[in-house]
Amino acid sequence: MRSPIPEYLAEALSHVASDDSGATADYIPQLADADPDRLAVAMCTEDGRLYSQGDCDVEFSIQSISKPFVYALALADRGFDAVLDKVGVEPSGDAFNEISLEPGTGRPLNPMINAGAITTHTLAGPPGLSVDERSERIVDGLSAFAGRRLEVDAAVFESELRTSFRNRALANMLRANDILDEDPLMAVTGYTRQCSLLVTVNDLALMAATLANRGVNPVTGAPVVSARVVRQTLSVMATCGMYDGAGDWMTKVGIPAKSGVAGGLIGALPGQAGIATFSPRLDRHGNSVRGVDLFRKFTSDMGMHLM
Ligand code: DON
Repeated sequence: MRSPIPEYLAEALSHVASDDSGATADYIPQLADADPDRLAVAMCTEDGRLYSQGDCDVEFSIQSISKPFVYALALADRGFDAVLDKVGVEPSGDAFNEISLEPGTGRPLNPMINAGAITTHTLAGPPGLSVDERSERIVDGLSAFAGRRLEVDAAVFESELRTSFRNRALANMLRANDILDEDPLMAVTGYTRQCSLLVTVNDLALMAATLANRGVNPVTGAPVVSARVVRQTLSVMATCGMYDGAGDWMTKVGIPAKSGVAGGLIGALPGQAGIATFSPRLDRHGNSVRGVDLFRKFTSDMGMHLM
């Protein structure tokens, strides 16, 4: 890197700041009203040093960035076989809200698309938990990744649940295929609550750094999930985390990543760092326009690409 990290990150933000292409997600009314100009970046090294610039204290909902972390909790709580029995690991090449089920088994193709994530949501915690207890397990688990207690944004939760017709359709299909074994609306309600957890880029960088650090939070020292669970989670992020933009992402940026429709984006560089960006305008895949540009810049400036 040519300049010290904070200066470099500030310079990277100014490099993308003038790009106002893309649009905020409008299928969740509360997100359509977000300030589209917000811009932030944070990087947390494997030994717990955190650097950030821009709107780094602004909270936004985690949305689909919750998916790899809840997948990791499900693997840890239920074991690999039980989770793989219900959700595959193949890229779908489709949009995040497509049904994308595997012919024959009816399993969602992967845990990063909504159909897969609604399913993995129901697999967090030991069998037999109530819906509230399961939500508590998820908040506790994601909070351990973030190193602080995360809270639900009630307005985002209600706004999305009220308009979650597509996710309810996916969940009903999953129930009909015996992939879900509970009331589909309960599963969507819990999943929507999980997506409404509030985070900052600093939180996301630390969550990604916990993955980069083989499941141990580098700031608190807490072991959150095993190295084997991390390997599985990062593999699925690498192949499916950017949906139908995953191939383009892997060739151009080259690290495991996950995006969310509120404008967050994380990347994990195993053994080195977690990186997070925040900018609410999205491209046609539902990925943050300036976030993707920032990550491309990091790869070209720092040689981050794993291949
Ligand atoms: O289920 C949904 O549609 C949202 N709660 C999350 C989608 C999302 O973040 C897609 N990612 N870019």
